[in-house]
Amino acid sequence: MNLIFLGAPGAGKGTQAEVVSEAMNIPQISTGNILREAAKNGTEYGLKAKAAMDSGALVSDDIVIGILKERIAQDDCQNGFILDGFPRTVPQAEALDAMNIKIDKVIEIAVADETIKQRVSGRRVCEVCGASYHVEYKPSKVEGKCDKCGGNTIIRKDDQPETVLERLAVYHEKTAPLKEYYAKQGKLVTVEGQEEVADTSKLTLEAVKA
Ligand code: AP5
Repeated sequence: MNLIFLGAPGAGKGTQAEVVSEAMNIPQISTGNILREAAKNGTEYGLKAKAAMDSGALVSDDIVIGILKERIAQDDCQNGFILDGFPRTVPQAEALDAMNIKIDKVIEIAVADETIKQRVSGRRVCEVCGASYHVEYKPSKVEGKCDKCGGNTIIRKDDQPETVLERLAVYHEKTAPLKEYYAKQGKLVTVEGQEEVADTSKLTLEAVKA
């Protein structure tokens, strides 16, 4: 099954994509994680992407589409995948359609902007593997350490309050139109993401399996 997870920054799409990835044994492809890794490694496109990411802007369509094409051509995507954070603009969605890859469902995790500001302020991410936690709602077992790899958990640079406001504005302008794009294709399913993580996971898994 090929799925897209859509939602505002901090809505919880990464958290839910991870749950579905484990339940269905298909890879979660986070373009944000791939870009952060490239920036950390100082690759050419990583350095270009870093400036946009740090300011809350989107990375150029050309770079992200190139990354995505390469990633979904890998063997582990043969039986399906979850796109977490791609597409994020109509040209990205059109590029995906042009690749002739059948998308089964687009799951939108819907959360009000006010809730998002609260959630993002408590987020911590592993600086080694990118796993995501929340100091109150999804704490790691040992404070400051990743459950998966033992790396240090840190605050993402783009989670500063003023950058979050910019990311939300970019979402409403450039990404939210994808809801209509996929509704027209009959693929959009909206999951209310206001509840606790476990409740949202139950709703998300139901939506995927329906
Ligand atoms: P990316 O890494 O994709 O960030 P994002 O979309 O801004 O999404 P987030 O990771 O912030 O949020 P999420 O919805 O996954 O929330 P999470 O589950 O972590 O992208 C970063 C940047 O990379 C972009 O700004 C852009 O520059 C660039 N980029 C990436 N893809 C691109 C593309 N396709 N095109 C162009 N540029 C691109 O949850 C948030 C927090 O809330 C966590 O702490 C979590 O534990 C907690 N939480 C989750 N669910 C709940 C719940 N139900 N109750 C309480 N807390 C919860």
